[in-house]
Amino acid sequence: MANRLPYTIRPAPGGAELRRAVGGLVTAVEPVLLAEGGVWIGWGGRTAAPGELPVNLAVPREAPRYRIHEVLLTAAEYRGYYHGFANSCLWPLSHLFVGRAVVRAEHWEAYRAVNRRFARAALENAAPGRLVWVHDYHLTLVPAFVREARPDVPIAFFWHIPFPPPEAFLVLPWARDILAGLLGSDAIGFHTADYARNFLRTVRALPGAEVDEEQGAVLYQGRVIRVQVLPIGVDWDAFDGTARRPAVRRRAEAIRAALGTPHILLGVDRLDYTKGIPERLAAFGAFLDAHPEYRGKVTFIQVGVPSRSEVPEYQEVRRRVEEAVGRLNGLHGDGWQVPVRYVVRPFSREELVAHYLAADAALVTPLRDGLNLVAKEYVASRVDGAGVLVLSPFAGAAAQLPEAVLANPYEVNDLAAGIFRALAMDPAEKGRRMEALRRRVREHDLRWWWDQVRSLLRVGEPGTATLHAA
Ligand code: ADP
Ligand code: G6P
Repeated sequence: MANRLPYTIRPAPGGAELRRAVGGLVTAVEPVLLAEGGVWIGWGGRTAAPGELPVNLAVPREAPRYRIHEVLLTAAEYRGYYHGFANSCLWPLSHLFVGRAVVRAEHWEAYRAVNRRFARAALENAAPGRLVWVHDYHLTLVPAFVREARPDVPIAFFWHIPFPPPEAFLVLPWARDILAGLLGSDAIGFHTADYARNFLRTVRALPGAEVDEEQGAVLYQGRVIRVQVLPIGVDWDAFDGTARRPAVRRRAEAIRAALGTPHILLGVDRLDYTKGIPERLAAFGAFLDAHPEYRGKVTFIQVGVPSRSEVPEYQEVRRRVEEAVGRLNGLHGDGWQVPVRYVVRPFSREELVAHYLAADAALVTPLRDGLNLVAKEYVASRVDGAGVLVLSPFAGAAAQLPEAVLANPYEVNDLAAGIFRALAMDPAEKGRRMEALRRRVREHDLRWWWDQVRSLLRVGEPGTATLHAA
């Protein structure tokens, strides 16, 4: 179960219309459901009037593999739980934007009520011995609610975003309720050792919890909860395989030919202030100022998808990005050729991979990011062994990808220097780095991740849990 279903749902004549949702959680978790079956409980991105019926059907419709069970939110719940507590409080706090966190009791009340509703949906779907797998910061109270009613059900939780140090998390007046909620699980996973350590240090503030940092375990209410570092991987075959298709290679060539510059840089992000897109554009401008020899020779393609657009910070970041694109194109374009191409729409897998293949370098430079799958997707798509990954040290993926060019997005000249390094790097060094990155991303792909989760929970062994991604 996750707040977001892999589809957004719209009422349509003759049944619901489903569209692919965009985000790291959906990209990473859906292949597991496609392979293993189960039920995905979540929200379909719409608010519903009282009396409206939620969707419950098998997907993909053309070849069903698992079921989606929609949880409907009222407009007030959507504001208080989703935009309010989850995205205006927990999200900024976890990404260390403490000053941006909106801490309001009425949002917390809505969050608790919606978590109760998700827990009820889990209980409706949970069969004895079947795993309830809860995802992300929207649903922290669900594990304890489910355990209260059904102590026999195995529960796992995966936290997809950064877990901040206790100094930030304990700003929340309800921090202990959230910790107790999470500790209803049998196992809790994080992307990096730092996040797991921050979590364990924070749990020390919960009365009655005993923490064993070395073993990665918490003793709470007579149960041992295991805390594990399990960075999500990409579906390697899907990206590598798509990149090998002749039609996709031809599309990459066509993109290069259409742009007409010898060099291409690429950014792919949800339009979120944590992704550092205005900072990246500023660094690209500083790079063009410092290296006029590259003017007219490099195009930066920024692909963005709108996200959480009713939260003021998200409206602001979109405005800043659009202003920066206009400014750069005005200053550095020559009327016919412009240095920045800005595209706001979701891409198909093929189109995304063709862009990854076309780009000399991917700029993955968030101010803070749980993991960042785009970094791994870029590497998995570079079947030609070329391309450079410019990566922020503040993305969780940096802990696993030391051969990337690391650049600090908070310092405009450092990031500009990273861009220059990537473009000027000699082909042999590019090849060496990319080969090492590909080995790492392949070894720790999505299959590896799921095997780890499975062995942690001993899912599928006789007499133990079987997957039921309620
Ligand atoms: P987050 O989960 O914060 O959005 P990630 O980088 O981990 O960040 O995951 C983003 C996912 O969304 C990736 O799988 C990426 O390919 C996908 N994505 C982002 N932008 C687009 C887009 N414009 N079209 C299609 N997929 C996109
Ligand atoms: C991040 C979060 C996910 C979320 C996704 C998209 O990846 O970890 O939980 O689904 O962003 O955000 P949205 O608010 O559209 O679901």
